[in-house]
Amino acid sequence: MSEHENGFSDNPQWQELKLPQLLFTDTVRELHSTIDNEWNSLQRSACQTAAGRALWKHVINDPLADLLAGEAHLKTVYEKIKKDRLNNAREISGVILAIRTLWFDSQIEAALNSFNDKEAQVVLLGAGMDARAYRLGCLKDSDVFEVDFPEVLQVKATLIQAAMESRDEQQHLKMTAKSLTRVAADIRENDWLEKLQISGFKPEKKTVWVLEGIIYYLSHTQAMQVLKIIADKRTLVHTVLLADFMNKSSTTLSNSTFIFYSDWPDHLLPSLGFSHVKLSQIGDPDAHFGLMHDPLNLFNKLRSLPRSIQTHPDDGTPCCRLYLVQASGSPNQTIP
Ligand SMILES: C[S@@+](CC[C@H](N)C(=O)[O-])C[C@H]1O[C@@H](n2cnc3c(N)ncnc32)[C@H](O)[C@@H]1O
Repeated sequence: MSEHENGFSDNPQWQELKLPQLLFTDTVRELHSTIDNEWNSLQRSACQTAAGRALWKHVINDPLADLLAGEAHLKTVYEKIKKDRLNNAREISGVILAIRTLWFDSQIEAALNSFNDKEAQVVLLGAGMDARAYRLGCLKDSDVFEVDFPEVLQVKATLIQAAMESRDEQQHLKMTAKSLTRVAADIRENDWLEKLQISGFKPEKKTVWVLEGIIYYLSHTQAMQVLKIIADKRTLVHTVLLADFMNKSSTTLSNSTFIFYSDWPDHLLPSLGFSHVKLSQIGDPDAHFGLMHDPLNLFNKLRSLPRSIQTHPDDGTPCCRLYLVQASGSPNQTIP
């Protein structure tokens, strides 16, 4: 098959899959074999998202994404993208993830700029294979806390250590955050905040909370508990919450593993005490990043429908939406 026929190399932004040498060293191979054979699907979702970022490297600068994703996840996402391109699909696999990543990147920077203090904290709940502490310059004065299951954080730390020690990577790779602390905790339990504080999190310090790709894995009670704990912090100090929410249709698809949903997070969060809430959908001006040109793609079609509509009037398919939400609050705000 020629390069043109395989539909990949005809467009320079999509390159053939090139796996970095580091993936083939003994340590890294062993770690990824543990991930593939011993982690549950919830934990492996961390590698899937990293694979998405690695394959969308023409728009996302994440030098660790290939290493953290591993060969199996990279190949799976690569094949999906290849198939979409061969079929001239309107939406290429991973585009939601790419936009979501870029939206969180830009919102983290905006939130930190909105604080008058230079020093702040950024807490990533369900951090998975997120490498922002190594790739975002805006974190230079921030203490970053990554919360996830102990197995995930330990394997991640060892993979990053391997990259730091590798001669190929070490010139390029350095931490961009002021500090990084990994906190092993299950956010379904009621001791995660205590574990965060024992690790150095200061409740009185301005904080950006990042809940990216995590909240819908929780039950309704667990998700509300987490959101309330974060909302309560705004009575002490300026607090920003960044989170993505699925609507009900997204969680009720057959074989969905998602539980929590909110059709109206822009009503839910003010009811918990946040004063400013901004909701965006994929394709909106602040959630576009030049990747949503086709007016007929799924996301642009959804945006033109009222949010209360649950099934698409053209074909009766469920309106599956992902809401990107920024909410903030501070001690001196007027109570809604
Ligand atoms: C889809 S991944 C998203 C990872 C990361 N936020 C990103 O966007 O790349 C979900 C992550 O949440 C973590 N996670 C899920 N449930 C959790 C819980 N109850 N406590 C802590 N971490 C959890 C998983 O281990 C996984 O790393």
